[in-house]
Amino acid sequence: MQRESWNTRLGFILAASGSAIGLGNLWKFPYESYENGGSAFIFIYLFSIIIVGLPIMMAEIFIGKSTNKNPIGAFKALHPSGWHIIGWLGITSGFVILSYYSVVGGWTLRYFFQTISGAYLSLTDAQISNDFGNFVSNGPSQLLFHSLFFLLIIGIVIFGVRKGIEVAGKIFMPILFILLFIMVVFASQAKGFSRSIDFLFSPDFSKITTTSVMEAMGQSFFSLSLGMGAIITYGSYMKSDEPILKDAATIVALDTLIAILACLMIFPIIFSFELKPGASIGILFSTLPVLFLKMPGGIFIGPIFFLLIIFAALTSAVSLLEVVVSYFIDELKWPRKKATIFMGLAIWALGIPSALCNGGWGWLSGIKIIGNRNFFDSLDYLASNWMLPIGGIFIAIFTGWVVSKDTRNSSFAKDHQLIYRALMFILKFITPLLVFMVLLNTTGIVKLITG
Ligand code: PHE
Repeated sequence: MQRESWNTRLGFILAASGSAIGLGNLWKFPYESYENGGSAFIFIYLFSIIIVGLPIMMAEIFIGKSTNKNPIGAFKALHPSGWHIIGWLGITSGFVILSYYSVVGGWTLRYFFQTISGAYLSLTDAQISNDFGNFVSNGPSQLLFHSLFFLLIIGIVIFGVRKGIEVAGKIFMPILFILLFIMVVFASQAKGFSRSIDFLFSPDFSKITTTSVMEAMGQSFFSLSLGMGAIITYGSYMKSDEPILKDAATIVALDTLIAILACLMIFPIIFSFELKPGASIGILFSTLPVLFLKMPGGIFIGPIFFLLIIFAALTSAVSLLEVVVSYFIDELKWPRKKATIFMGLAIWALGIPSALCNGGWGWLSGIKIIGNRNFFDSLDYLASNWMLPIGGIFIAIFTGWVVSKDTRNSSFAKDHQLIYRALMFILKFITPLLVFMVLLNTTGIVKLITG
């Protein structure tokens, strides 16, 4: 059977941006910025995007495009000596991330239903923002929405790359962008706007701690979908004569812009209405409905915006499942339908404890796994802050030091050579070392930053 490919180059860019732009930007980035003191966190994040994110994005597109294979097959094709274990690590990361990602995806579904049915119209700001806590501690509805979201993911992945993923990216990404922009314009009129700008952009480096550095770097991997093979997989559906660097830079820039816009939309609301986002993971959900009540036309914009978040989450979730599924299709020759349903069910099942540990099931919610993190937070911590960065180190070393120079140079032949060489230098010498140092610093073996 002939392997699938993207219809157009734009199709690739939008699909890869669709993978990158998701709950990482809209849900996770704002709450991590909030928890880690704002601007200093954002500053480290931006630094990491350039020194770590962009070079690895380039490397992953290269690995996929030059082999046209799933992550495991791609490493085998480029070097037959055990490096494909990185592909395995990536598939495992995809499995872990998707399990709890779908729980948050379910939250977006529920908020869509709440806003479209007008459930918040008669409530006060405080009641609306407390509603999040009531919702996450309701076990049956957590399970219901997690399952509904999973059905949607499976539905799209069964259709395959061109029909499912490319079309979804082409339609929803541009609309999301425009609407987000409109909401930021509205939020900028609120009285808390200038306080938000201060909070977000005037760095106070005394707030930097070991954990915030690690979180910021982990978040750059998570948000750009790097370190686990999603971009390798999407790159593998590219046609071989396309340049790489411009696409990589476009995806990175769009992703970063959306994350910053999300903060500019959310923080003015928190500061203007003195909301206390009790559970910080609820920041997005406890602020947006308040915003919709205040803004003109909010009753209509609310549900549309939640619908767009659902699509942004779906296009990312789909790329997570696609990494797992593409392996079973390419290497084990499973039909797409069988691979999607079997793997989808397994990941859904792993998501159940994540759905129930935020209060839905008292006993489970009390169990702390890593530090004082519950099941959900522990999986996220493990995947974003350890598995993706470790995958990233190996992808950088593999591309910089192991792959033959000829293969590499010929894949980048159509790119601007000076920029290519500069990025390759960073990828070889700086990226892996920097990521390694951050991980080492966190273990406490080496202390570069204290606090
Ligand atoms: N980048 C996605 C987001 O920001 C999440 C994701 C992580 C997708 C890793 C694929 C791989 O929501």
